[in-house]
Amino acid sequence: MELSTTPTELITSKLKTQQFYKDVIAGLQGTPKRLSSKYFYDANGDKLFQDLMNCEEYYPTKCELEIFSEKTAELGEAMINGGDAFDLIELGAGDAMKSSHLLKYLLKKKADFTYLPIDISDNIISYLNITLPVILPGLKVTGLNGEYFDMLTKANVSSNRRKVVMFLGSNIGNMPVNEAIDFCRQVREHLSAGDRMLIGIDLKKNPKTILAAYNDKEGITKRFNLNLLDRINRELNADFNLGQFDHYPVYDPETGSCKSYLISLADQVVKINGKENIHFLKDEYIFMEISQKYTLEQTDQMAIASGFKTTNHFFDSKQWFIDAVWIAE
Ligand code: AVI
Repeated sequence: MELSTTPTELITSKLKTQQFYKDVIAGLQGTPKRLSSKYFYDANGDKLFQDLMNCEEYYPTKCELEIFSEKTAELGEAMINGGDAFDLIELGAGDAMKSSHLLKYLLKKKADFTYLPIDISDNIISYLNITLPVILPGLKVTGLNGEYFDMLTKANVSSNRRKVVMFLGSNIGNMPVNEAIDFCRQVREHLSAGDRMLIGIDLKKNPKTILAAYNDKEGITKRFNLNLLDRINRELNADFNLGQFDHYPVYDPETGSCKSYLISLADQVVKINGKENIHFLKDEYIFMEISQKYTLEQTDQMAIASGFKTTNHFFDSKQWFIDAVWIAE
């Protein structure tokens, strides 16, 4: 912790660690054992995810980037929609690399909008607040640091302009189908009729292509999964031996669910925080992550089930990924 850390930041960080500990213990004491993929993203995890996005087999980011760079005008016009002022809200903005194509277009078209990136990481929000107006002169940015729905409520309180919500990168795939519909329904509840959502979703395709994306030759996905055990070691004082766990991804073409597991290679006991003993049998698994894939029809059905209607489909040239524009009914 740096010397400049304020008391509020210290309390927030302590609460976050307590929640992390509670979730890890509950997940590893349950049957079957599970860990939440939302904890993949510490500083090491962010770096590994960057490496993953650049690796040969992991196609979703490249496909969506192609859509944002090749179909910028069409995407932009779907947001401008007539011209009245709007708030462009991005859930989980990250480095805003994809969105910056769109932001540039909207600025060129003199659209009247404010960009509100929402992210759970305060580092990311400070970075965006400072760098984006330099990279994109004239851009109005108000970064919101916190949970998605708390921040959507805040955005509604601070302005009554129409809203366009972006949820990119197939982050929706990291929820099982029912939770994904529930999530979109909650987004809808924070919007008014006529507001829009731009959602990036990975589509079903050749099962080998999908499986390879989660089983890359360099082993980055394996390290990405193992990093969560390492994070538990570092932050929760545990003694996982990373060499005693293997990465096992599966893809089921019938359901479209791609799942990642870590398999225990031996009977072993892991101690967490000096007091909780977690017993693993040889070959026992920890469920780590779901990356759900959809057909085009299923994405339209998800829009309807959550109170939207699809107005546009934007595909990459291989039709592996979709950015859909939904309108709140
Ligand atoms: C962030 N999310 C959409 C990625 C995915 O494809 O499910 C996370 C990831 N997991 C393994 N590789 C990438």
